[in-house]
Amino acid sequence: MLIYIDLFYKFAKFPEKKGSLMCGIIGFTGKTDAAPLLLDGLEKLEYRGYDSAGVAILEEESIDVIKSKGKIQDLRNKMAKSHTPTGYIGIGHTRWATHGEPSDENAHPHYSKSRRFAVVHNGIIENFAELKEELIGKGYVFHSETDTEVVAHLLDDCYTGEFFPTVLKAIDRLVGSFSLGILCKDVPDKLVCVKKASPLIIAVSDKGNFIASDITAVLAHTRDIYKMKDDELAILGPDSVQFFDRTGAEIHKDIEKVTWDVDAAEKGGYDHFMIKEIKEQPEAIRKTISPRIDDNNNIVLDGISLTPEQIRGFNRIFITACGSAYHVGVVAKYVIEQMARIPVEVDVASEFRYRYPLVDDKSLVILISQSGETADTLEALRESKKRGARTISIVNVVGSSIASESDDVLYTWAGPEISVATTKAYSTQLTLVYLLAIQFALAAGTITDSAANELVAEIRTLPEKIEKIFEQEEMIARIAERYTYLDHAYFIGRNIDYAVALEASLKLKEISYIHSEAYAAGELKHGTISLIEPGTSVIALCCCERLVEKTISNAKEVMARGAQVLCVATEDNKSCASICDHTIYVPKTHPLLMASLEVVPLQLLGYYTAKSRKCDIDKPRNLAKSVTVE
Ligand code: G6P
Repeated sequence: MLIYIDLFYKFAKFPEKKGSLMCGIIGFTGKTDAAPLLLDGLEKLEYRGYDSAGVAILEEESIDVIKSKGKIQDLRNKMAKSHTPTGYIGIGHTRWATHGEPSDENAHPHYSKSRRFAVVHNGIIENFAELKEELIGKGYVFHSETDTEVVAHLLDDCYTGEFFPTVLKAIDRLVGSFSLGILCKDVPDKLVCVKKASPLIIAVSDKGNFIASDITAVLAHTRDIYKMKDDELAILGPDSVQFFDRTGAEIHKDIEKVTWDVDAAEKGGYDHFMIKEIKEQPEAIRKTISPRIDDNNNIVLDGISLTPEQIRGFNRIFITACGSAYHVGVVAKYVIEQMARIPVEVDVASEFRYRYPLVDDKSLVILISQSGETADTLEALRESKKRGARTISIVNVVGSSIASESDDVLYTWAGPEISVATTKAYSTQLTLVYLLAIQFALAAGTITDSAANELVAEIRTLPEKIEKIFEQEEMIARIAERYTYLDHAYFIGRNIDYAVALEASLKLKEISYIHSEAYAAGELKHGTISLIEPGTSVIALCCCERLVEKTISNAKEVMARGAQVLCVATEDNKSCASICDHTIYVPKTHPLLMASLEVVPLQLLGYYTAKSRKCDIDKPRNLAKSVTVE
């Protein structure tokens, strides 16, 4: 049966939002040369990851892997110089580094030891370290730092003599997210794939059958697809597709007809990358925190080699960053100081680097950057190191300059962020700040183990609570419509609410071009309140439990001067609705974690306001995603 996907569906629940955010995979088995199809498909998937790429082609019972650091064009160049493998079946991958830097070795596909199998993977194998140790013990030699190579060797280790049963056996050992495309040299026309918490579709065409991370990769060939669900597997032949569950039982799936154009498909059916990335936040947070929290809610920070003694030895923490990453730093100051009672200074990096900062070997400097390439943040890092400080970076791009040059690095596993206005990088940075703050507090003895565990348990609930906020999307879009012709907006808040106000204001102004300012609510009356006149829009952030009454008083002050006030409050605070013109409620969490929730409706507000003003949301004028000049 053909189910026609209506464009309206883009606002419904698209499976993409549940998916892993890294890497693009493709596979083909058919009646024509696989390599050109794989390369063209990978180019379409490059927005999912672009630090390295590779293909594996199976011909006459031998698998030929060719891979290269850099973009698909670099892979094409490498093939032109050496050779282009030929064969009618193959898999390909474009990588967004998670485990291991971008390099030829870390690029996919990965061979198993016997070269019987080759694998491409999208996701994160959370138990890869244990598996790797076990496999090394059995004599397997690893050629990359990736978690994926574990899967390849595991296939050899689980080999039953048959392709599909081997895959079933191997994936039973895996924990984490794994969409896999697998070749086996014994079966020269069959491709096996599995989907687990990372996106995967199967497409059928008259040339042959494909697997792909999303439909963009195959739209040039077909519009007939099967959407894979978690824990489903498929065996693809040139003319056949069979589906199975994790027990190996065959299942039936309906084919669907895609009506999206390429542009819509790349954005997972959303109108813009920004809204797609807003919706990816719960998953990005899960991916960022889950490998760092064990079953007993203890924190295990992979990239940090500091001992509790060393942490106690710091007399000051400096946080420096640019743009939204700086705003994460402002939240971090409140969180770390309150939790660990260590003094924290936050600076925009362009100021920090030139202010002869009083940084020395008793200082810890934390650099926050999505791209890891921001020139001012990089120079602030170098300046700090020159002055003897210990440095930790929180970075999204593996192997980037800031990540490579800092002493320790904590990666946000947000996946590639395409929209210039950041959302999921900001949110994942926040969660790493919380984990660091708890570690600092434990070292400083300012919280007990059980209090730390409770906080960690609460951090785990954030993705779900963010998903709840999405239920108000339509209502927020309606509020945003009223902002279509707005000239000015003022965001006010206290404490963490103020830190979030800075980010919310930047979100609104950078994409909608509405003049907007963020003020510490108590500071408004020292000048800026003179700008409030009838009809001025004020957004009051009222989530900081301790200070909410004070912010509400400030909201009343501006209302008395004719301002229209939109309030963001926790769901237990019903009084806001009776005072303010509009109220957006967000679920409650621990007061120190509130930023993660209250920012979400304000990201949506900025997005929908810019949309109703018909702005170029993903590429706002004059802005760049990565600013590599000072
Ligand atoms: C640019 C981007 C911002 C970003 C800032 C810092 O200005 O437009 O969204 O927050 O750079 O970038 P980084 O990559 O260091 O986080």
